[in-house]
Amino acid sequence: MNQDEMKQAVARAAIEYVVPGTIIGVGTGSTANCFIDELAKIKGKIEGTVASSVASAERLKGHGIPVFDLNAVDGISVYIDGADETNKHLHLVKGGGGALTREKIVAAASDKFVCIADESKLVDRLGKFPLPVEVIPMARSLVAREIIKKIGGEPVLREGFTTDNGNIILDIHNLDIMEPVKTEEILNGITGVVTNGLFAIKPANILLLGCQDGVRTLE
Ligand code: 5RP
Repeated sequence: MNQDEMKQAVARAAIEYVVPGTIIGVGTGSTANCFIDELAKIKGKIEGTVASSVASAERLKGHGIPVFDLNAVDGISVYIDGADETNKHLHLVKGGGGALTREKIVAAASDKFVCIADESKLVDRLGKFPLPVEVIPMARSLVAREIIKKIGGEPVLREGFTTDNGNIILDIHNLDIMEPVKTEEILNGITGVVTNGLFAIKPANILLLGCQDGVRTLE
C-alpha cells in the first residue's frame, strides 16, 4: 500500500468505532478527509457530527452529514482524527493543519479518541515535526521568548496563516520531546498560549496505524 492507500485503509477501519445513533467528533486533515468520505456512506446511521475545523464542517455538509455546534450537543461518543506524529504511548503531535485548538476541545468532549494515521507518523521520540502552538497575536514575541527559555527549540511564525479562532501559530522546530506530558504542561502555563499541539495529558485511546500489509491497532 502507498501512503494514500494507508490513509484510506485506516479511515475504513475507523468506521468500526462509529457508535450508531450518536454524535461523532470529526478531525481535520487529509486522513480525516478520507474518514469523512467513508462516514458519508453510513450517514443515515448517526445523529450527526461536531467538526474540529471550518474546512471539515464544509466537507461534512457537502456530503449531507449534519454538523452541530459543540454547545448544542450533550456529548460525543467518539472522536476520529489524524496526527502529525505519534509515539507508542499514543502521545500525539497535532496541528499541522492549524486546527489544534478545536481538535483538543472536541477530543476533550469525547468519550473516546481514535487516532488514524499511516505508519510514517509513528516515531520513537516526538519533536521532529515542528510542534504547533496557537498564540494570541499580541503575545507573539512574549510567547516565543518564554518558549525558548522554558523548553528550548526554535519557534517560527507560520507565515500568512490565521486559525479558525483568529490567532497565529508558532511552530517550534528542533525539539526533542523526552517528557511529552511535562512539555505540554509547561506550554499550557505560558501566558498568551491558547493551545499547544501535544496530546499527551489526554492521549489517544486507540491508534489505527496504516502499514504496508494492513491496519495495526495499538491501544
Ligand atoms: C490538523 C491536524 C491533522 O490531524 C494532522 O496535521 C495530520 O494531517 P494529515 O492527516 O493530513 O497528515 O492535526 O490540525
